[in-house]
Amino acid sequence: MRVGVPTEIKTDEYRVSLTPAGVRELVDHGHEALVQKGAGLGSAIEDSEYEAQGARILPDAESVFGEAEMVLGVKEPQPQEVALLRPDHVLFTYLHLAPDPALTSGLVESKATCIAYETVEDTKGRLPLLAPMSEVAGKIATQAGAFMLEKPLGGRGVLLGGVPGVAAANVLVIGGGVVGFNAASIAIGMEADVFTFDRNIDRLRELDVAFGGRASTVYASTLAIEQMLPIADLVIGAVLVHGAKAPYVITREQLGLMKPNAVLVDVSIDQGGCFETSKPTTHSDPTFEVDGITHYCVANMPGAVPITSTYALTNATLPYVLALADLGVAEAIARDPGLRPGVNVAGGRVTHAAVAEGTGVEFTPLEEVLTGVRS
Ligand SMILES: NC(=O)c1ccc[n+]([C@@H]2O[C@H](COP(=O)([O-])OP(=O)(O)OC[C@H]3O[C@@H](n4cnc5c(N)ncnc54)[C@H](O)[C@@H]3O)[C@@H](O)[C@H]2O)c1
Repeated sequence: MRVGVPTEIKTDEYRVSLTPAGVRELVDHGHEALVQKGAGLGSAIEDSEYEAQGARILPDAESVFGEAEMVLGVKEPQPQEVALLRPDHVLFTYLHLAPDPALTSGLVESKATCIAYETVEDTKGRLPLLAPMSEVAGKIATQAGAFMLEKPLGGRGVLLGGVPGVAAANVLVIGGGVVGFNAASIAIGMEADVFTFDRNIDRLRELDVAFGGRASTVYASTLAIEQMLPIADLVIGAVLVHGAKAPYVITREQLGLMKPNAVLVDVSIDQGGCFETSKPTTHSDPTFEVDGITHYCVANMPGAVPITSTYALTNATLPYVLALADLGVAEAIARDPGLRPGVNVAGGRVTHAAVAEGTGVEFTPLEEVLTGVRS
């Protein structure tokens, strides 16, 4: 199979979807890797490093999409990339479609088979292709939040860990999955007082053991959140319902319970945001203020640390890339049923129920379109 790697074009995105190690594996499996000129530069990977492993360097996105059968990405395709998709293409990248009806309809119209990293599942129902980026984003969330709490940046002017004789800041993490665990771990390391909220009691049990008494775990009822907001300095939103638009865990009205210049970090912004007042921002202009509360809502947080993120992401995606290239979509799904929920759009249909619900588009079970899916 001819596997294409276009340069990422989302604002402040420096990751790349395949490393030279991935090129080597594809070539060893008898496939061809087509890499856009300069695609790896943001992650400090030169074209010559790809070429040394057998990749062919193409001058622009048009030639990569034109020649490739499967297109690999990091962030969701931008409109000019959607325009290059064909019905025979397999697109394998992050999509985050539930909060994005416009992109969903673009992909539907393309009739390409679009597989989202973030809804591929492992045998335990976890999200193996979201997890590495959630680890990165969780760690950045606390770093960014601590920074935004500094007075010159519009924050309250409080140091997360306090000092002897002055109390530490309170950090509230809502959603104790991969992002939440990593955000809380960094906050613990910075010596803040940390409270992790979730609605899954088994998950709270696991966190309780993992934190070893260094953070509190709390059931995320509306009342418990409201009781915490008046004392929170930093709130990190990290909830997820697989594939679906994020639920609001803090409303605009509840902002009134918070201290002036407290900071909200909405990591769930890529699924539409879990605070009612959130809207996506970029690394170049990461924050805005609503009712005196700083909001940090960067939708591609791991893009800021590409040298870490590119390798963390591609370590996880490569086995799936190889399976799809070796076997085709239908057979790869037959051998690994966790790939099935990854297929969000195929043959001009939305084939993921939560995406269909989030975008208001009719849901079609994948089996009904599989015969038309590239194999
Ligand atoms: N902004 C970025 O750059 C970036 C990067 C990576 C991940 N993310 C996003 O971060 C979010 C979290 O990802 P994750 O990998 O940690 O997911 P996860 O599935 O590991 O964890 C989500 C947690 O949220 C909990 N939850 C669901 N609904 C809840 C509610 N109403 N109240 C409290 N808890 C609730 C679940 O029980 C689960 O423990 C996702 O939306 C993901 O796409 C964003």
